[in-house]
Amino acid sequence: MVSTQSVIDISSGLQYLPKSKDSVQESSPNQELLPLTAKVNNLDHLEIGRWDVPALVEKFGSPLYIVDEYTIRTACRQYRDTLKQHYPGESLVLYASKAWSSLAICALCGSEGLGIDVVSGGELYTAIEAGIKPNKIYFHGNNKSLAELTFAIETNCLIVVDNWLELETLAALKNKQKEQVNNLTKIMVRFTPGIECHSHEYIRTGHLDSKFGFDANQLNDVFAFISKEELISLIGIHAHIGSQIFEVQPHQDLADVMIDVMTTAMTHKLSIKEINIGGGLGIRYTEADDPPSIETWVHKVSTAMVDACQARQLPLPKLLCEPGRSIIGPACVTAYTVGSQKQIPEIRTYISVDGGMSDNPRPITYQSVYRAVVANRLSEASTEVVTIAGKHCESGDILIKNATLPVTQPGDCLVVMATGAYNYSMASNYNRLPRPAAVLVANEEVNVILQRETYQDLLSKDTLPERIAIFQN
Ligand code: LLP
Repeated sequence: MVSTQSVIDISSGLQYLPKSKDSVQESSPNQELLPLTAKVNNLDHLEIGRWDVPALVEKFGSPLYIVDEYTIRTACRQYRDTLKQHYPGESLVLYASKAWSSLAICALCGSEGLGIDVVSGGELYTAIEAGIKPNKIYFHGNNKSLAELTFAIETNCLIVVDNWLELETLAALKNKQKEQVNNLTKIMVRFTPGIECHSHEYIRTGHLDSKFGFDANQLNDVFAFISKEELISLIGIHAHIGSQIFEVQPHQDLADVMIDVMTTAMTHKLSIKEINIGGGLGIRYTEADDPPSIETWVHKVSTAMVDACQARQLPLPKLLCEPGRSIIGPACVTAYTVGSQKQIPEIRTYISVDGGMSDNPRPITYQSVYRAVVANRLSEASTEVVTIAGKHCESGDILIKNATLPVTQPGDCLVVMATGAYNYSMASNYNRLPRPAAVLVANEEVNVILQRETYQDLLSKDTLPERIAIFQN
């Protein structure tokens, strides 16, 4: 098949293999499009964690999320170890599980010493069931329900308080329990720091139009309120300034703002032991993306925090950060099977795959751009420009516009790269497509970490009132 569009690039899938293959330890996962263990094998197939990708699809079905354990561990260690190296105080990395919350992913991050950031009762439950200690779970969210707050108090995780209603509800809950349980609930306070990021640029403003956190000018009242509560113990402050950020300066500026807030708290005789600067470091989705490495980001942010404390002669607080995308994003690819094709002369060629917006809603939601390779002919030259479409009943269900690929055939294994973050976690059953399986690959093993949903799963919460059932005997 010949594309009707001009060919823009003679290249192949090989261009996306990790740069430093001989010393993968040196690479920062967020600067690569493929997992760190990606290779081409002698069948000219893409291999991840020593596993042949088309063979994985053959065995576990399609579409398939393929997650590389080594890449996740490397990202966790780079965050953890660089913090230890450059921040003389205590530190803790939290994995922002909103990027992908499941037992295996939480447990994997936990096994690297990370804590977990959760934003709902469901994510909290997942982290606990994954074996994460409650004192390493931080519960965010701008509208936690009464049930969620009660659950959080029971588990004894840390609550990141977002607003007045939450603070007052929490205080009331604690005071009501006073007779039975007299323990302290540890909280952090989230505020909007006046630093706003739009991926490639940022601005500083006095006030931010954000639904999250207390406005900075409310903090005096917030601290005054907390200082009177006996069963609530303020241990720290939190701010998160955005996601997919390619600059370090906004987080360096944040360090200063946070230390100022720490001094405000001190005027209320509250001591801030922990400062959480949120997540946000960007990853590479296309060749044009050039995020700083994890090490660079951690190094510069740590230095900014140390400088900010030294300038005010304050002791170093425990420093927390909570990356999501840069830990899980580059570790995963989604493998699809190519199906029907449609050529519209002079306009475009559509190549359809067996998934789409239900397993990756980011292109239709945010116009996110991805790259793909043909995993069963990795080195074949890319000679066509095509549009990769999903199989949903929706014209906007396009995974990649103008993908440069070799000529594809039905049955080819098409791999979309860097799909670990916010794909599975935002996946749906739109058009009643069962959600794909996910496998975790490591040198010796491949494990299913999410089973493929079945048609029965799709009906598992359906009920059919007898009155309208048409299948009666
Ligand atoms: N902490 C807080 C409080 C957050 O709100 C977020 C992300 C993170 C940490 C982790 O940020 P990361 O390191 O992943 O950038 N669904 C969107 C992304 C939403 C991010 C929400 N908050 C997407 O697919 O791009």
